[in-house]
Amino acid sequence: MQDILRRLEEKRQAARAGGGVRRIEAQHKRGKLTARERLELLLDPGSFEEWDMFVEHRSHDFGIERSKIPSDGVVTGFGSVGGRLVFVFSQDFTVFGGSLSEAHAEKICKIMDQAMNVGAPVIGLNDSGGARIQDGVASLAGYAEVFERNVLASGVVPQISLIMGPCAGGAVYSPAMTDFIFMVKDTSYMFVTGPDVVKTVTHESVTHEQLGGAVTHTTRSGVADRAFENDVEALLELRRFIGFLPSSNREPPPLLPANDPAERSEPSLDTLVPANPNKPYDIKELITKLADEGEFFEIQPDFARNIVVGFARMAGSTVGFVANQPMVLAGCLDIDSSRKAARFVRFCDCFNIPIVTFVDVPGFLPGTVQEYGAIIKHGAKLLFAFAEATVPKVTVITRKAYGGAYDVMSSKHLRGDVNYAWPSAEIAVMGPKGAVEIIFRSDLAEEAKIAARTEEYRQKFANPFVAASRGFIDDIILPRDTRRRVCRALQMLRGKELSNPQKKHDNIPL
Ligand code: HXC
Repeated sequence: MQDILRRLEEKRQAARAGGGVRRIEAQHKRGKLTARERLELLLDPGSFEEWDMFVEHRSHDFGIERSKIPSDGVVTGFGSVGGRLVFVFSQDFTVFGGSLSEAHAEKICKIMDQAMNVGAPVIGLNDSGGARIQDGVASLAGYAEVFERNVLASGVVPQISLIMGPCAGGAVYSPAMTDFIFMVKDTSYMFVTGPDVVKTVTHESVTHEQLGGAVTHTTRSGVADRAFENDVEALLELRRFIGFLPSSNREPPPLLPANDPAERSEPSLDTLVPANPNKPYDIKELITKLADEGEFFEIQPDFARNIVVGFARMAGSTVGFVANQPMVLAGCLDIDSSRKAARFVRFCDCFNIPIVTFVDVPGFLPGTVQEYGAIIKHGAKLLFAFAEATVPKVTVITRKAYGGAYDVMSSKHLRGDVNYAWPSAEIAVMGPKGAVEIIFRSDLAEEAKIAARTEEYRQKFANPFVAASRGFIDDIILPRDTRRRVCRALQMLRGKELSNPQKKHDNIPL
């Protein structure tokens, strides 16, 4: 017995030591924490239950058989965040670069299966060189097992990836299938193939940072949802983020005691929209003034900034905000903003999170770049996402709601539950100038006539009354009352039950 206990302690020590002092020092020198240090920060103190500490790899090629480290490069188990159950895996870069062997994959699959059984999120702290080269096809098989579980878990339990080191190959495809990807600036990278392979194949010279750094993926590719300054900030923000999410699709979002009165009036909103319809204003001001205590967790803040999406709470319960941003490209819809918002809307719908939409959209962005880039298909994604969503949908038109974009942005016609407009709303097929130039083309030479026609159009259509007279909006509300009206609408919708026709799955335009 004594012997077993001694060996047990030795093995635990070996697992905790990871790839050894030298590699741990190198990890720290790069500004990175170790796999276990990261879990300590992420999880509530003392809540972590580790599994499979004694698992070792089974490969015997290229000398790797002489180097077996208990845990095999990934720390797995369950614990809590803010008192709520989560399953975690944290890859240990100090052990074979966090690369994934067959055994390493089995550990991840085990916690994913259990998370599905009990209905709890899976959080991956990724720091991995991809498939373990010495493991050969067994590591590829291991990745495929993880991928399959990512897909089956999609829409059942939230899956969140935090990229905390250089991640290549399979180490980026698994995160790509999770719901959210967060990165750490300067120390994390994501690419399918690294700069050396790029150089050989395409003769491009590119740095790790340029190819797959946090700035690249949060501003250009849109692969990642947020970037944080360092490991500590990333892990603390991840804790905050998890607080917004339900544990599974079987649960409503968490309800927190609300200290911010639902009836709170916000008189400053009465002057948010400028008198000149062509002048921009910051839609985030509206969001932070409406949200409980002004707290807003924005998703993809630096990508497709013409649309703003993210989580907040209204009367203590999580909502997803989707809002056109007049400050960027006049808030128009284009390829990137449609993709960004569609994915967000679909996440909310999977996980029972009501969607509150703010509309100020002049239409879709015209041009060859957009058309050749398939704006038709990408724009349709957002239309599809709003149309299929069965969660409570509350919409407020603050200013422009023109053309197809009016339909797309959670309109009444796409089963919007409560659709309000501010007095400044203009709901029409297009703006006055464009409309008059088309329907009175023959009068174009006569300035006075055109001015009169434009004014006539403005009076007739550039207001909320036509839509209100048809019941397409439910009421015209004062901006200062928006929080109260939206909170009441959400409260009324708590018992909403709506389902789509039975099918295997839909066929969203990809
Ligand atoms: C085995 C690996 C490894 C791997 C890194 N290591 N990647 N061991 N399999 N895939 C080991 C190194 O040998 C080294 O061991 C230690 O991890 C640290 O690696 P370094 O190269 O010294 O670190 P760094 O300079 O920071 O570079 C990190 C890296 C680089 C960018 C991740 O190691 C790299 O490019 N690795 C290969 C990436 C790759 O091509 N993976 C396979 C992808 S294919 P020592 O003992 O010296 O500490 C794939 C297919 C999946 O994943 C299917 C997808 C659909």
